[in-house]
Amino acid sequence: MIDDAVILGIESSCDETGAAVLRGPRVVLSNVVATQIDIHARYGGVVPEIASRAHLEAVNAVIDQALAKAGVTPAQIDAVAVANEPGLIGSLLVGLMAAKTLAWAWRKPIIGVNHVYAHAYSPALDADEIEYPAVALVASGGHTALYDCRSPMDLHLLGKTVDDAAGEAFDKVASILKLGFPGGPAVDKAARNANPSAVKFPRTLLHGQSLDFSFSGLKTAVLYHLRGTSGGRNEHEVRAKDVEDYSAAQIADIAASFQAAVVDVLKTKMRRAVKLTGAKTLLVGGGVSANSALRKALEIEASKLSCRLRMPPLKYCVDNAAMVAGLAHHYFNKGMVAQLELDAHATVKR
Ligand code: KG4
Ligand code: ZN
Repeated sequence: MIDDAVILGIESSCDETGAAVLRGPRVVLSNVVATQIDIHARYGGVVPEIASRAHLEAVNAVIDQALAKAGVTPAQIDAVAVANEPGLIGSLLVGLMAAKTLAWAWRKPIIGVNHVYAHAYSPALDADEIEYPAVALVASGGHTALYDCRSPMDLHLLGKTVDDAAGEAFDKVASILKLGFPGGPAVDKAARNANPSAVKFPRTLLHGQSLDFSFSGLKTAVLYHLRGTSGGRNEHEVRAKDVEDYSAAQIADIAASFQAAVVDVLKTKMRRAVKLTGAKTLLVGGGVSANSALRKALEIEASKLSCRLRMPPLKYCVDNAAMVAGLAHHYFNKGMVAQLELDAHATVKR
């Protein structure tokens, strides 16, 4: 057990290039993130080819900064960790190649970690050790899943989205409502002083005991609500409404009502997972866990369930390399390191 091992983590699965240095499993010495938000904003979403190129341009500088901020030299690094799955394949490959190059040049072990598992581990960063067993809810732009966790490395999938991820729904609805990109923070802000009960949007897959998620129908419901229902005899004569036909307050009410539907579903499924597993710890991670309404709702829910709620601070909700290095520490301590043949995987069948 090497409790104070120093690990360099690298993250490039989507549109953030991250590098971080941790001492031990939870102490973050540095956490550098170069975001590509401005580059993708004009397209209203992440363009994979552009993302890979931007990672390539940023990765060396981001790693240099992470080492400098941590005040460590390559000789002091015990292992290099990288998120090698799941994600955009071109983006993942940039981080993986950087990690392999450094591991080879510095003669250090390399550790590949699952990006979604790293999100589930993020509540441990700069904080207390996580008490297992736990239920983890990871809700991000690419993933929405519930896990039964027995340790940081032992996660069993309980349910996942059958279509869009929660963050993807936020991004698409923000685009429909012309609130900007990325959509999550924009919807969150618009909804802050609005009425979450203004429109009753569907809560999908809440029947039975399903732990899967579906957000695609909700997104379509927002679109249809915005367009309005046509009452004319000839539908071609009736113009569908658009954002311009609504006041800012009405748009904010639609945003708040959409957000309330997402929060309701996430909260309900989390409660079901807790009842099913008997876990007393709730872990929440991924970009959507930055959502203010979700955070409030989960706090209330956790207290009703007498569970410890572990949510990361905002900087560790979104993609970052600190969570990668932290999770990698647990593999390192068990001698579970990889070889330079380590590959990247866009999807993970687990
Ligand atoms: O975890 P993350 O940085 O990247 C992925 O692994 O996908 O999550 C990004 C997602 C985006 O869809 C973004 O709109 C969403 O997280 N997000 C939010 C908030 N902040 C970021 N969604 C809802 N409310 C927020 N405050
Ligand atoms: Zn992520």
